[in-house]
Amino acid sequence: MISSRLQSIASLIDADDKIIDIACDHALLDIYLVKEKKIKDIIVSDILNSALNNAKKNIKKYNLEKYITPILSDGLQNINTENKNTIIISGLGTKSIIGILRNIDKHKSINKLVIQANNDHYYLRSFIVKKKFYIENEVVVKDNNKEYITIVFKKGKKRYSYKELMFGPILIKEKSNINYFLNLLKNLELINNKIPKFTYGKKYLSKKIKILKNILKKLQRI
Ligand SMILES: C[S@@+](CC[C@H](N)C(=O)[O-])C[C@H]1O[C@@H](n2cnc3c(N)ncnc32)[C@H](O)[C@@H]1O
Repeated sequence: MISSRLQSIASLIDADDKIIDIACDHALLDIYLVKEKKIKDIIVSDILNSALNNAKKNIKKYNLEKYITPILSDGLQNINTENKNTIIISGLGTKSIIGILRNIDKHKSINKLVIQANNDHYYLRSFIVKKKFYIENEVVVKDNNKEYITIVFKKGKKRYSYKELMFGPILIKEKSNINYFLNLLKNLELINNKIPKFTYGKKYLSKKIKILKNILKKLQRI
């Protein structure tokens, strides 16, 4: 059984997705996708030989060499994306993800990105939206006491407000995310209390907190 973090990514995959999983490490997600979701042909890649060897070992253990192709690659560098339409990246920071996707516009066949970043969701959403993808879905999952956000981007243009890019256009409409936003508010308030008055950081954080309180008010009314 895979973790609920990886399961939440799998729940966002459709039967006709033709997948490249970048930074796959163990490839447990991809093994699950083949076994449970009947996905037939996945490319998995990692920048590190040691990580890719983990993937190869696991793929062999489950006898799935026919369905999963491991490739050593820094991001998309060694990967032919022509027959693929979906990229998964999970477990990396936004800075690395942006590095990997900086030329995504050149990979014409890719029309879906499933991204689980460790941080900076505002920059992640802003960057990918600028590359002419819109946000089709977002989910939060708690795993080992930590909350993870997975975002599905699809090809297409859409405009978003600061509030939507910061907190998620789909997440802010879902009542089931109240606890996630309450935790976020608690953390931001803790940080805010430590920042000295009249600094730029304080002003910025106070703005974020105000928006977050409004989101919570609306969600609590649904
Ligand atoms: C924390 S693991 C995430 C594994 C898996 N995706 C998951 O969510 O459980 C991060 C992996 O990213 C790989 N990685 C880091 N930068 C990369 C890059 N530019 N291209 C490909 N793989 C990368 C690392 O080698 C490592 O195996």
